[in-house]
Amino acid sequence: MKLTILGGGGFRVPLVYGALLGDRAEGRVTGVTLYDLDAGRLSAIARVLAEQAAGHPDAPAVTVTTDMDEALRGADFVFSAIRVGGLEGRAADEQVALAKGVLGQETVGAGGIAYGLRTLPVVDHIARRVAALAPDAWFINFTNPAGLVTEAMSRHLGDRVIGICDSPVGLGRRVARALGATRPQDAWIDYVGLNHLGWLRGLHIDGRDQLPRLLADRELLGSFEEGKLFGPEWIQSLGAVPNEYLHYYYYNREAVKAYREAQQTRGAFLRDQQARFYDCMRDPAAPALRTWDDTRAEREATYMSENREAAGAGERDEASLSESGGYEKVALALMRAIARDERATLILNVRNRTALRILDEDAVIEVPCLVDGNGAHPVTVSPLPGHAAGLVCAIKAVEREVLAAAASGSRPAAIKAFALHPLIDSVEVARRLVDEYREVHPGLAYLT
Ligand code: G6P
Ligand code: MN
Repeated sequence: MKLTILGGGGFRVPLVYGALLGDRAEGRVTGVTLYDLDAGRLSAIARVLAEQAAGHPDAPAVTVTTDMDEALRGADFVFSAIRVGGLEGRAADEQVALAKGVLGQETVGAGGIAYGLRTLPVVDHIARRVAALAPDAWFINFTNPAGLVTEAMSRHLGDRVIGICDSPVGLGRRVARALGATRPQDAWIDYVGLNHLGWLRGLHIDGRDQLPRLLADRELLGSFEEGKLFGPEWIQSLGAVPNEYLHYYYYNREAVKAYREAQQTRGAFLRDQQARFYDCMRDPAAPALRTWDDTRAEREATYMSENREAAGAGERDEASLSESGGYEKVALALMRAIARDERATLILNVRNRTALRILDEDAVIEVPCLVDGNGAHPVTVSPLPGHAAGLVCAIKAVEREVLAAAASGSRPAAIKAFALHPLIDSVEVARRLVDEYREVHPGLAYLT
């Protein structure tokens, strides 16, 4: 099996490679091609992978290239984890929005729209190249905003593109652990929504929904990340456990305030942190794997720290840290289920079909899927309550406006996308956002 990674010089590639190293089974990945625009980043990451492979005589062979077409030819699986505009761009997305008093986050609100508008023309091109050069490959999308990007690519690749995210899996694991489940992987998780906008409404073990037991116990509710973030009382009121990204909606005012007061935004922090890592890798004597791992640990420990601070949730605990970073596990589980035709149940971003009746069949949603050699098949889930259905429909409508603006290159269309987002409170603000994002991002010059 050949796996191609787009964004192969990206910081989280060693996580994926580490997961592959642990896979001994028949039909495993034997060759990995890393593609990136930046040769320096590629060689830094290749050094980390080489150190990881030491002591594994049958480690997947790694090749690197800056030619995307070459990388795509012959691929069985393509992973995409690119960041259009880099972390510099992410920091600018945050800064412009926060200066107007609205949220600037990588995937939610104004920041997510700006990032989406920059990313869509690029992933549209990639999808066309994949359709032409590797039409039988399965395309696994990690690129954020993952739901929007997956939907854009599905217009060319149909159901061969599947979006992944680790936050629903992490949520399921944390809830299962709080409930004392001995085999959390065996639980049936009733979860649905859009990427970074979903709710866990049930967790079934031995044929029984265990969630009511959690909802009835404030102490248990306060014992895990989401419980601390949202507060036991709010989770009880909802009767469901929200994805952590819903903190940006339910506590928007507090999150915006915390982000504005923070010394640095998340994007600026990661920009500087990763610049140090890649700089350090220029020294041939630097210990690649150890430097990478220290950087990774610091990144994970500070994940959503402003939100936790706003909620008074304290530091991330050890158990939650060890449960995070599961995205490479989701990716590997997905590849194994497809490559070996081994049935698995995974929460993925796929076209809705008839799973969620409030949306049309082509809308990409995040939902439990049965996966086998024929791909990912979404299961029908119970309906969302009105408040959640309203939010899902509003955000899907915004995503569609973003797709339309990227296709037409029209400024009024982009303004419409921003202005219709529930976290952007004025059309005037939307206009100013579009103008300022155009000024700071060369990748948005197409909006006229
Ligand atoms: C979670 C999200 C991902 C995101 C990651 C890293 O796992 O689901 O979509 O890429 O966190 O976030 P960070 O702020 O460290 O870039
Ligand atoms: Mn995600």
